Amino acid sequence: MKAIVQDVYGTAEVLKERQIEAPVPAAGQVLVRVHAAGVDPSVWHLMTGLPYLLRFAGFGVRAPRNPVPGGDLAGVVAEVGGKVTRFRPGDAVFGIGTGTCAEYAPAREDKLAHKPDAMSFEQMAVVPISGLTALHSLRDCAHVTAGQTVLVVGASGGVGSYAVQIAKAYGADVTGVCSTPKLDFVRSLGADRVIDYCQQDFADGRRQYDVVVDIGGSSPLGWLRRALTRAGTLVLVGGEGGGRWFGTTGRSLVAPLMSPFVSQKLRIRVPRENHTDMAGLASLMSEGKMMPAIDRVYSLAEVPQAIGYLADGKARGKVAIHV
Ligand SMILES: NC(=O)c1ccc[n+]([C@@H]2O[C@H](COP(=O)([O-])OP(=O)(O)OC[C@H]3O[C@@H](n4cnc5c(N)ncnc54)[C@H](OP(=O)(O)O)[C@@H]3O)[C@@H](O)[C@H]2O)c1
Repeated sequence: MKAIVQDVYGTAEVLKERQIEAPVPAAGQVLVRVHAAGVDPSVWHLMTGLPYLLRFAGFGVRAPRNPVPGGDLAGVVAEVGGKVTRFRPGDAVFGIGTGTCAEYAPAREDKLAHKPDAMSFEQMAVVPISGLTALHSLRDCAHVTAGQTVLVVGASGGVGSYAVQIAKAYGADVTGVCSTPKLDFVRSLGADRVIDYCQQDFADGRRQYDVVVDIGGSSPLGWLRRALTRAGTLVLVGGEGGGRWFGTTGRSLVAPLMSPFVSQKLRIRVPRENHTDMAGLASLMSEGKMMPAIDRVYSLAEVPQAIGYLADGKARGKVAIHV
């Protein structure tokens, strides 16, 4: 099969399109003929092996343990492994697999859901990781309810574009933070208000929010807490930058330790990939409450360019790969 492969960590040149053996699905796994894949910052982290901590946390110390990048996928079931009960060959699916920048990728059946007929493979391929991250941050970490005020820092990105829509679907009053060129995009997602972080400090004390979801990433905890009400909830989703060894992990370690000693709740979003919530996201889409915002679609051979576009901070919403 055709796949994007990297043998070493580095810049985009390490990614090569190559013919490799198609994977064989293990018990509980499905082999998917990938029609579209999604890329997000995790693909850049895998490509570069940065921050170094990730190499010790499973990426592979000297070289990538899994040489094919990509986690999000949408496609058609080609083969099922033993003990698989929910899918048959020919089913159209979306979800999270391994090495999805390839013609075929294995995925655990509990990380796959049926693809809605009305949606394209590209649309569904950009939902799983970012959509689940937004859902879990708002529903499970912050317990957002109707009428609450929610600040989404990083509203124009992959996770943020879903977070704005899901918070609106929950009946919240939503303010999105992004850079100047993307203000209209965030408004188009349904945000009630937008703040341009190039012009205004969202934690200047003018307004406090019941919930702050920080996806943008590099703001210190004390600064984010200034944007919260006294009993508000902060959810840390991710962040780029920081040192080459630890990135922004320091904040994520400190927040849960500090939380019991302050009036506000400081939470970190822990990944929980499951098919029930993926089907829930598909339902939100069927009800017209959430739609993937795809900025660009690249071909498989153009994965390096897709990662570059994302890493340069140019994408509005999501970037898809047509396989
Ligand atoms: N914990 C998890 O399970 C999980 C899952 C998925 C992602 N993540 C992490 O979450 C982060 C975001 O992912 P993503 O897919 O949404 O990335 P993305 O598509 O690249 O979006 C990044 C967002 O951050 C904003 N941003 C950049 N600099 C900022 C600043 N100084 N102040 C405020 N906002 C700023 C960007 O706004 P502009 O583009 O307008 O500058 C954009 O909205 C990444 O670090 C990713 O690794 C974590």
